[in-house]
Amino acid sequence: MNVKEIKKDFPILKKKIGANDLVYLDNAATSQKPVQVIEAIKDFYENHNANVHRGIHTLSEEASDMYEDARAVVAAFLGAAHPEEIVFTRGATESLNMAAFSWGNKNLKKGDKILLTVFEHHSNLVPWQIVAKNTGAELMYIKTGAQGEIDMAEYEKNLSPEVKIVCIAHASNVFGTVLDIKEMTRKAHAVGAVVCVDGAQSAPHIPVNVQSLGCDFYAFSAHKMLGPMGVGVLYTKKNLMENMIPCQFGGGMISEVSHKSAEWASPPEKFEAGTPDVAGAIGLSAAVKYLEKIGMEEVRKHEVELNKYTIEKLQSVEGIKIIGPKDPVKRTGLVSFYSEKVHAHDIASVLNSSGVAVRSGHHCAMPLHTELGIAATVRASYYIYNDHSDIDKLVEGVKKALKMLS
Ligand SMILES: Cc1ncc(COP(=O)(O)O)c(C=O)c1O
Repeated sequence: MNVKEIKKDFPILKKKIGANDLVYLDNAATSQKPVQVIEAIKDFYENHNANVHRGIHTLSEEASDMYEDARAVVAAFLGAAHPEEIVFTRGATESLNMAAFSWGNKNLKKGDKILLTVFEHHSNLVPWQIVAKNTGAELMYIKTGAQGEIDMAEYEKNLSPEVKIVCIAHASNVFGTVLDIKEMTRKAHAVGAVVCVDGAQSAPHIPVNVQSLGCDFYAFSAHKMLGPMGVGVLYTKKNLMENMIPCQFGGGMISEVSHKSAEWASPPEKFEAGTPDVAGAIGLSAAVKYLEKIGMEEVRKHEVELNKYTIEKLQSVEGIKIIGPKDPVKRTGLVSFYSEKVHAHDIASVLNSSGVAVRSGHHCAMPLHTELGIAATVRASYYIYNDHSDIDKLVEGVKKALKMLS
């Protein structure tokens, strides 16, 4: 992978923060966008803009074709069996809400169990809390080991015929841990549970094939994988889609309406009420094509190497504690760490003064931080345009912060 060449495609990476070059290491929050994605969105608005599936005029047909092409590109990227299994949403959060409310409200009842890990992002936790309240189902949590790993024996202990759904992140946005979704799904299916995967931190970084994983739902956001904000995907296995109720109603999702009642269109339209973010879906499709040109195996290899380098470098800094697996292969492209003496926000602030952008806080995983007894961590997360020199600047900045503030 030629990082120097890739970097040229990202206009924002030429930006200065004060006198310093921008070093962008906040990719788990959102990635930057290459000119190919920006141009694809511009081209839609300049040359094809019309509403989809509504008009018979040329522009509407062009827009509809481009929107459906984007669906097919995403379906192929995920290895889905059918494009109709791809529902466009506003992002991973809306996708997980859709799984919770469209499937959960219809299929769960008192006595059923919803199994999650302790490190779920609020987006894969709070919707299930609400569904549990609505239906009387009970939430249960799989604990992790000291390095944020899931012990399969511990997982199996939690599985029973009462567990109807397992809701798990493919990769933790705090520990970085990558879960063995294939094995976890196999075990869940053996007790009759379906599996909902939060892929927000995996789809951008790890080759994914939903058929090989076997999972029933897979959610992610475009903006963390070079695409625009405000668009995401919920993959749902076709056989589940009929037994789900839409959670938004209106134009575009119906087949018949009378003054008293309505019937739903077939999936995916059934779950896409109102005017969709057509330009967003086209931007996502351009992002997928960009990543596929590099190759997801290459993306993964690059990030494992950066994990190795970051862990080595940070381990040599006195006073810094890394959380999550020490084995770089067991992580997605991020490393979270903390100091017992200096608050994470202060470290992030000193880093910013050197042009290094990282995230600090609880990363929308408050219950995990509470359980770990750590108020906040600093998270450095990389992507295809980061290299060793960015990590060197990170480590230099961390040392500077500790020297100044401890
Ligand atoms: C693991 C995980 N799940 C879900 C989300 C929510 O994504 P979005 O805010 O794009 O909906 C995030 C975002 O940080 C995440 O890291």
